[in-house]
Amino acid sequence: MSDLKKIKDEFLSKLQKKLDLSEINKIKSDLFGKNGLISSEFKKIGSIAEPEKKKFASDLNIIKDELQEAINLKLNQIEISEINQKLEKEKVDVTLPERTFIRGKIHPVSQTIDEISSIFSEIGFSVEEGPDVENEHNNFTALNTPDNHPARDMHDTFYLDKNKKKLLRTHTSPVQIRTMSKNKPPFKIIAPGRTYRSDSDQTHAPMFHQVEGLHIDKNINMGHLKGCLNYFIKEFFEIEKIKMRFRPSHFPFTEPSAEVDIGYEIKDGKIIIGEGNKWLEILGCGMVHPNVLKNVKVDPKNYQGYAFGIGIDRLAMLKYGINDLRSFFECDYRWLNHFGFDPLDVPTNYRGLSR
Ligand code: DAH
Repeated sequence: MSDLKKIKDEFLSKLQKKLDLSEINKIKSDLFGKNGLISSEFKKIGSIAEPEKKKFASDLNIIKDELQEAINLKLNQIEISEINQKLEKEKVDVTLPERTFIRGKIHPVSQTIDEISSIFSEIGFSVEEGPDVENEHNNFTALNTPDNHPARDMHDTFYLDKNKKKLLRTHTSPVQIRTMSKNKPPFKIIAPGRTYRSDSDQTHAPMFHQVEGLHIDKNINMGHLKGCLNYFIKEFFEIEKIKMRFRPSHFPFTEPSAEVDIGYEIKDGKIIIGEGNKWLEILGCGMVHPNVLKNVKVDPKNYQGYAFGIGIDRLAMLKYGINDLRSFFECDYRWLNHFGFDPLDVPTNYRGLSR
């Protein structure tokens, strides 16, 4: 048997067996590699004399093609079997029931805070933050509420130490102090956040939310305060007209001070904001007391302005028809699913706040 025939028979029979990819590659290089058997046979051609040369070259080419084809066939088989294995493994049974897809919801309080921030940022307020754990200076003293002032008792404060120096802030007003102490006037900020008082019933929770507003500049007066709140209430409730009244009140950090009520009525068991003869208190406000400005080294002769504090939870309840404050904090997923908001639906003044 000629060398060529031997090579051919040996390798074709090897290629009949079950082979993996590395074994096929080995055969390939044994035959066609630099020093492979077939490659070496090709090198011989030059030294063979005619007429054998022609026959040898032709035989060699035929055998080369045959072997090449056998290898390709084998490679094809492997590829197909790999695809089949993959298909088998990744099979999807489209008749199976779908897995329940749980999508998170934005809590109505977070939604309301986003709405409030959006409304105020539209008229030039920036958003500030302060810590929940405050010192008594920022929470009371600097806000013109010295030791033994009756307003301190009214706040049902959670103190965190025996000396009553650290506490959970009872309102967002200390953010006024923080902002004014670290910057120079003018100031135009809101500060939403958590606040704490030892109180709990259907309309009070030990943790609740407020948003503080502060606008200090030259020549700011109560007219600006009224205009600002009027704009805010209309935007927030997404109504054209609002009935609003300022009732004289007292806060140590403002003079004069007022509480603001909005008009409402109940129609078919539903609360309608902006109409009717009933009044609902929604916020406290006033012109910032000169002592507060002095405490943060702002000259009250040059600068003055207004401040307000709004209860966020109450606004959210009114707008979204939630009647028990405690449900906000129960973490009941069914409740959140019903009252919550689509996380991709970020409130903006242009696209609509709550729709
Ligand atoms: N801090 C007050 C409270 O929690 C609310 C308040 C009233 C804030 C009047 C103000 C204000 O900034 O001017 O009861």
